[in-house]
Formats: sequence, structure tokens, C-alpha cells
Amino acid sequence: MADMRKDSAEDALFEARDVSCTVNGQIYRAKAEPRRLLSDFLREDLNLKGTHVGCEHGVCGACTILLNGRPARSCLTFAVQADGAEITTVEGLAQSPARLTRLQESFSEEHALQCGFCTPGMLVTATALLQDNPSPTADEVKHYLSGQLCRCTGYEQIVSAVLAAASGGQKGGE
Ligand code: FES
Ligand code: FES
Repeated sequence: MADMRKDSAEDALFEARDVSCTVNGQIYRAKAEPRRLLSDFLREDLNLKGTHVGCEHGVCGACTILLNGRPARSCLTFAVQADGAEITTVEGLAQSPARLTRLQESFSEEHALQCGFCTPGMLVTATALLQDNPSPTADEVKHYLSGQLCRCTGYEQIVSAVLAAASGGQKGGE
């Protein structure tokens, strides 16, 4: 009897829960097991594969999204924690592929990406920076992006792109 109670308690622990959240302005409702990572939920359940997954333990920053407006590692967040949240992924930064944000244009103009693996997390994090601080110094950009790892660019072009978007004025962080 005690074992049966234990089994049903364990079953309840793993039972999928309803998750309802707004992602890039669109409402999604789906089921997620309690231990489902938000990164997997976004990529596999919502088919939003722009969010990249590298280390899966909070180190590289590739999986960064905006969770209620703040940068968050989606590999360190459970999908159920996003119930009721507003999420922006890299797909939601631009109004359309033909209308990139100033920051995205700067990344292209300044050659701030090579393989592009880190780019979604860089763009999302730099977008939050420019919302917080529209005119950062180079040191402030480096500090803000210090949790985002890039194995290709050497970072200089990324910092230049963020500074160019900032000096480009109003469109930075759009
Ligand atoms: Fe999330 Fe690396 S995949 S921090
Ligand atoms: Fe390759 Fe940053 S562009 S990891």
C-alpha cells in the first residue's frame, strides 16, 4: 500500500503540466513535464530553433532569451517556470526578416559573427543592454556581454557592432 502511494506520488511528480506563455507576441499553450528545460521547450515543442544550445549548464550564453524583459539562460530555466511569462527569442527581435533592428544590421555591417552559434544569445543580451543603457561605453558593453562566449570573432567586432548600434541612435535595441 505504501509502495502504491509512493508510485502515484512519483507519477504526479513527472506528470506534464499546462504551460501558457507569450513568445514573440504570440500566445502558446502546451504541456511540459516538470523537468523539461525551457530551451528544449522553445526549440522542440514550439519549433523556435533560433535559440541555440551549447553547454546546457549556464556557461556559454548561447541559449539566452528575454524572460519578462530580462536576459535569462533558457537552459537553466524549466518550461513550467515560464507559465504566464512574456518571452522574446531571437526570432522576435526584428519585426520581419526584411526589417532588422539596428543592432542586427550592425552585426552584419561590422562582421560581428562567423559561425553564428553565439549570435542569438549575443543579440538578445545586447538588445537588453541597449534598452537599459542606450549609450554604453566599450567597457560597459564588454562587461554586459561577459557571460556570452564566442569562439570565433575575438569579440572586438561584436563590441564594435553594439557601439555602432548605440551611436546609430533610436533604433538600437528595437
Ligand atoms: Fe545555456 Fe550554454 S546552453 S548557457
Ligand atoms: Fe562563432 Fe561566435 S561567431 S561562436
